[in-house]
Amino acid sequence: MQSLVIEGGTRLRGSLRVNGSKNAALPIMAAALLADGPSLIHDIPDLQDIRSQIELLEKLGVHISRREDGSRTFEVKSETDSHAPYDIVRKMRASICVLGPLLAKRGKVRVSMPGGCAIGDRPVDIHLKGLRALGAKIHLDAGDIIAEAKKLHGTEIFLGGNFGSTVLGTANVMSAATLAHGVTTIESAACEPEVVDLAEYLIAMGAKITGHGTPRIRIEGVTSLHGAEHRIIPDRIEAGTFMVAAAISNGELRLENVRIDHLLAAVEKLREVGVDVEKADRSVIVSSARVLEPTTITTQPHPGFPTDLQAQFMTLLAIAAGNSIVTEKIFPDRFLHVAELSRLGARLHREGSTVIIEGQKRLVGAPVMASDLRASAALVLAGLAARGRTTVNRVYHIDRGYENIEQRLNSVGANIRRVEQAELD
Ligand code: EPZ
Repeated sequence: MQSLVIEGGTRLRGSLRVNGSKNAALPIMAAALLADGPSLIHDIPDLQDIRSQIELLEKLGVHISRREDGSRTFEVKSETDSHAPYDIVRKMRASICVLGPLLAKRGKVRVSMPGGCAIGDRPVDIHLKGLRALGAKIHLDAGDIIAEAKKLHGTEIFLGGNFGSTVLGTANVMSAATLAHGVTTIESAACEPEVVDLAEYLIAMGAKITGHGTPRIRIEGVTSLHGAEHRIIPDRIEAGTFMVAAAISNGELRLENVRIDHLLAAVEKLREVGVDVEKADRSVIVSSARVLEPTTITTQPHPGFPTDLQAQFMTLLAIAAGNSIVTEKIFPDRFLHVAELSRLGARLHREGSTVIIEGQKRLVGAPVMASDLRASAALVLAGLAARGRTTVNRVYHIDRGYENIEQRLNSVGANIRRVEQAELD
């Protein structure tokens, strides 16, 4: 197992390119299962979760090749295997997004039911409700979801849940509805940019979709889809994480390949606490004078403040001059970083889904344990700001969502080494 050893206190300065979005790429790659003919997809990041998705798609009969420029082609060569097994799904919950495409294209699919994960229970009941509404017969067998339908039929579907809309649920139902007979209207659809990007890819494949990016998506079924060329949107969560890196290190970063319109809630909060965010073409310049004001943050579905940046912003507020409040409304238990940040001297008080943050002058380096992807990113950020050495253990979590994190941060002045755990013992 590997760890990151961070010598804190250096200022980040320079320029970083933000990669294509992991969470846009995963359902888009799954949607390639719907096409007759090859697709060419640009800017898929090189991450562990993407490699798991490739492994699954190859098992499902998709031929995938990588071009010199990093783009990838996807072409379905065989439709005989429609089983996403536990071994792959347990590594990556997002494999659930093959459910809708396989059902619509092959009429039968078996996908292992994803279990909970570090950030909560994460049920998939709304995905199943939506696919049932389209006419699928669904049952559970030996921990697998089995869904069947000779032909799906368009209908009106309400996809809202107790915690708002569902991103991958919307992706599954929207993808399946592209090949349904008739018109489907999804109400309370997720409005996240990743859903919009998927819709754009499906439209390029010949799907008839309108309203994506709003809570009402209309899909008119077509009889077949062809392959298409598509570029994945920039990763707004990676961009937001790097923005906090600039702010927390009292530095200045120019971030290339950023869609600031995807990040308005986060940028608003940065400005509120005293961080400068300047827009320039498709890049932004983020700089900080380090005297940070406290604030309140409540996570919400897009365009509200994203849950995937909650841990990173909590880290920033840990060194603000005053008390802040962070409330998590999407995954109420997504607070594994709280105990670890406390080891670095952050003063955090959790009450249910709310954390009160007593800002401190400084954090002090210590060994900490990464628990999930964004919590790990938060610990790296804390390590950048902390005095002395921070060792983030179980760093594989961060590799699921950030490509070469230490090399990229080192290129703008960080001091981070990747070591084998054994070297530390
Ligand atoms: C996506 O997960 C993202 N994953 C998550 O990113 C992100 O945190 C989440 O959306 C919210 O923005 C990918 O895109 C691969 P949801 P998803 O369904 O779609 C409840 C990261 O760090 N719910 O929108 O699985 C659910 O429990 C990750 O990159 C049901 O109750 O999330 C949650 O409270 C982690 N029943 C809320 O809805 C369902 O059937 C929103 O979850 C589905 C969801």
